[in-house]
Amino acid sequence: MCGIVGYIGRRDVAPLLLEGLQRLEYRGYDSAGIVITGKSGELKTVKAKGRVRELEARIPKRFAGTTGIAHTRWATHGAPSDENAHPHLDADNKVAVVHNGIIDNASELRAKLTADGTVFASETDTEVLAHLIGRAQAETLEKKVSEALRAVEGTYGIAVMHRDFPDRIVVARNGSPVVLGIGEKEMFVASDVAALVAHTRQVVTLGDGEMATLKADDFRTYTTEGSRTTATPTTVEWEAESYDMGGHDTYMHKEIAEQAEAVDRVLRGRIDDRFATVHLGGLNLEPGEARRVRRIKILGCGTSYHAGQIGAQLIEELARIPSDAEPASEFRYRNPVVDPDTLYVAVSQSGETYDVLAAVQELKRKGARVLGVVNVVGSAIAREADGGTYVHAGPEVCVVSTKCFTNTVVAFALLALHLGRIRDLSVSDGKRIIEGLRRLPGQIDEILKTEPEIKKLAREYADAKSMLFIGRVRGYPVAREASLKLKEVSYIHAEAYPASELKHGPLALIEPAMPTVAIVPDDDLLEKNRAALEEIKARSGRILAVAHQVQEKADHTIVVPKNEDELDPILMGIPLQLFAYHTALALGRDIDKPRNLAKSVTVE
Ligand code: F6R
Repeated sequence: MCGIVGYIGRRDVAPLLLEGLQRLEYRGYDSAGIVITGKSGELKTVKAKGRVRELEARIPKRFAGTTGIAHTRWATHGAPSDENAHPHLDADNKVAVVHNGIIDNASELRAKLTADGTVFASETDTEVLAHLIGRAQAETLEKKVSEALRAVEGTYGIAVMHRDFPDRIVVARNGSPVVLGIGEKEMFVASDVAALVAHTRQVVTLGDGEMATLKADDFRTYTTEGSRTTATPTTVEWEAESYDMGGHDTYMHKEIAEQAEAVDRVLRGRIDDRFATVHLGGLNLEPGEARRVRRIKILGCGTSYHAGQIGAQLIEELARIPSDAEPASEFRYRNPVVDPDTLYVAVSQSGETYDVLAAVQELKRKGARVLGVVNVVGSAIAREADGGTYVHAGPEVCVVSTKCFTNTVVAFALLALHLGRIRDLSVSDGKRIIEGLRRLPGQIDEILKTEPEIKKLAREYADAKSMLFIGRVRGYPVAREASLKLKEVSYIHAEAYPASELKHGPLALIEPAMPTVAIVPDDDLLEKNRAALEEIKARSGRILAVAHQVQEKADHTIVVPKNEDELDPILMGIPLQLFAYHTALALGRDIDKPRNLAKSVTVE
């Protein structure tokens, strides 16, 4: 959701910021803007509706400076337009602010400011902040910013420049990520390390309620009340190249192709053959505590929620602990009963999704034990949780999640095995699952080799206006995720149903123009799944099956390698990622940046 990048140092700032914005575009891409301190100290701003390349085209020849901040936007308050693009300035053009998040009391503050004579230039909530800072009575920029922040309610990651304080950028965080990049006589700030790693891998992640002042050769962090905090830089795990496209045409393709390697990484160093289990260092859950857990509730959104659904089934199957997954966005609004014997697991690729974070905070406030299954190291959810495990998928840049989904499910398999072996899973079953896990990377590579056939199939089905995805038990969350993938990247309407529910309604939809994608694993439900295919065929429905053997009733079958029954869902989703990708490609969609979406939903 929106991207911020800022720089103070000696280099020409505009090209640096534009490059940073390009790397952040996946977080929001409806408008962009930049402000720098010009030669005579004035703030020079350029903004443009549309992509960063639109902004770049508008930058005048003479736009030199060594301090600046920039923003790429995903609209919340006010439509995408030049006026609503950030940065926003105060009435005297002295203060410039870029902001991620939402100011909840913006309308109230806007009304007060308007009554006092302030004229607004945009419809955004952010402009309120610029005026508040501009009108603040305090003497230093740091104090002006904290004075303004005291008046606002909501979430923010902000970067602020002030004409009267040209030697600094002041930043603050509450709920939206802010990362400082520490260089040699130069400092960076961004909402995501992706914008920094090409220049420095030394970073400091601000916590909620923290602020920082960046000068070219120095930085300091403190609370909004002004007390100093300690900030020890850490080294970003990933090289700058991990954020590049690496010879692929899109990030989605690159990230699908990286899955064998990514799965290998999540397994590495964790398997304990001697006890037929796995070690998950950061769980912070003693064996005695793990044995006392009576239920597991997994919370996530979108694709992560689907990964959580498979995770819940894995935990139930392997550890025999009743488990289920629920969208975090629903859970937090239904005043849930928080049970002391339930272990809560928050799952999130970005570790920043607001609904998940808010659910975690609510659970912790009520005294619950919360684990995180998260990809981004040091992210808000990872920090807020009592323990957990990283999924080690590496940076995921495409808005649509693929490799993180797969790695998250594998991480859940590890958690399920770990809990199972502390409880009643036998050594032989433990070994069986470990062997299955070890086969995954090779089997993923086998699936990826079938891409040319999947591409052909995708072209054949790309004319559909709507598609049904069905699966039973283990196959159902796979169907749900595959249907989400198709709709978000190709814009074809798709919906997922348990195959067992067909007769209870969706069968009415079946006709030649409504293809069905069926997940048909070779497990104890094979015959039931085949019966569903018969029912569809009897109504002249077209069927594409994903199965372990060719399905006679299907028009086409994508055959995937068989693993252990419990682990099959990990593999069965992968060809359907490629199917969604090639369908979108055939339809000419903007694959890495689907319309209306943005990575990392840090607002409600
Ligand atoms: C879909 C997708 C989204 C995210 C969801 C949660 O491809 O990526 O549905 O899964 O917004 O995001 P995280 O996992 O970052 O919490």
